[in-house]
Amino acid sequence: MAIQTSTERGSWNSRLGFILAAAGSAVGLGNIWGFPTKVATEGGAAYLIIYLLCTFLIGFPVMVAELSIGRASRRNPVGAFRALSSNKFFPLVGLWGVICGVMILSFYSVIAGWAFGYAIEEIFYFLGWTQMADLLTDTGNGWKNALLAVIFMLATIKIITGGVSDGIEKATKTMMPLLIGIIVIMILYVLTQDGAMEGVREYLLPDFSRITTDLVFSAMGQAFFSLSLGMGALITYGSYLSKKENIPQVAAFVTLADVGIAFLAGLLIIPAMYVARSAGIEIFVGDQLASSTDLVFQILPALFHTIGGFVGVTLGVVFFLLLSIAALTSTISLLEVPVSYVIDEHQMERSKAAWLVGLGVTFISVIIAFQTSLIGSFSYIFSDLGLPIGGLLICLFIAFVWKKEEALNELEHGFPTIKQSLFAKVWPVFLYVICPAAIAYNIISNFL
Ligand code: PHE
Repeated sequence: MAIQTSTERGSWNSRLGFILAAAGSAVGLGNIWGFPTKVATEGGAAYLIIYLLCTFLIGFPVMVAELSIGRASRRNPVGAFRALSSNKFFPLVGLWGVICGVMILSFYSVIAGWAFGYAIEEIFYFLGWTQMADLLTDTGNGWKNALLAVIFMLATIKIITGGVSDGIEKATKTMMPLLIGIIVIMILYVLTQDGAMEGVREYLLPDFSRITTDLVFSAMGQAFFSLSLGMGALITYGSYLSKKENIPQVAAFVTLADVGIAFLAGLLIIPAMYVARSAGIEIFVGDQLASSTDLVFQILPALFHTIGGFVGVTLGVVFFLLLSIAALTSTISLLEVPVSYVIDEHQMERSKAAWLVGLGVTFISVIIAFQTSLIGSFSYIFSDLGLPIGGLLICLFIAFVWKKEEALNELEHGFPTIKQSLFAKVWPVFLYVICPAAIAYNIISNFL
């Protein structure tokens, strides 16, 4: 097999570039759509607390694990496990990750397409073109869903053909700061509106009696999804990372950026729900909050329409563009995983691999565009279950196959004193015991 050097494989131009790209992968629909709507429907501040615990206690150690496996092997998830041990099982774990990536991307691009469609809808509505606007908000319209998902996939493929630093890094470097700026401005606006404070209370004052095994399972899946863990996206991004970088430190930045943006998105969307209610928009169905898709894709547009005028349309367009940008920096990481697999393992040239894999995923997306009821089962299998199981196996790989000494040797690059640090004592405990036990316990109790 031809061994590629790291420059041929691509590498990040700068540390900031890597952090923004990895944070861009992490920050996506999961943060701005998934997290706030789950908080709203599944337990308010109690959900927030469990989510934070899952992120820091399970997600962060797994992120360090993925990045170190990636950087040590300089390979895609399948090749990485193969390069670091002769064990025959773990390359299959990598393959499971590649499959999860493909399947998640196929429904993710449909939802991302909705978000983009809503940005255009806001303009049509403002111009009074209501028929066109209604078409764009009809999430049951297969042709419309398919067209938007295809546009989204083409944009993703185009960026991936550009490669690591000129494609992924350049694109996320401009999109990420823009995204943070937009969220902050929108929060400032929403918090000054009537009703917002009721949402803030719901978001920040916990009612611990709402914590159930379902809530914990959901929060754990959400943490994995949101941090892009468990399927090798960060093995892949780690494979382009320089030996100069301190992995625990960059992982901490990425985790904080992801949690920070999820937290801000919650602070925007949950109060916005209550602002909508005080403007007369129904947000409860019976005594239940509207379902998660409705919360963002119906109630928010209704709120923007009620605000109306130039302010309403601007907020609407900006919000849905924000969601689209966040989704795009995630879809590129989802596509990069199978593409890097094809490049490394089948020695295919990057742009050919990007088009081949990308069009394959697009084909599945089109099916889902017509059959949106598949989204629920796909996300349960490949995300809620698939990612934590992947994370569990990654922990076991370091603990029992690759061994913690080797992992720490890798982490020593960029963090020369690591072996004397507290991190070297605590991290293995998480990989051997805490993460696997917590993940397994959650999955089993979800089945029971
Ligand atoms: N983290 C992304 C989000 O929150 C989704 C994602 C999952 C991206 C897995 C890559 C890998 O939307």
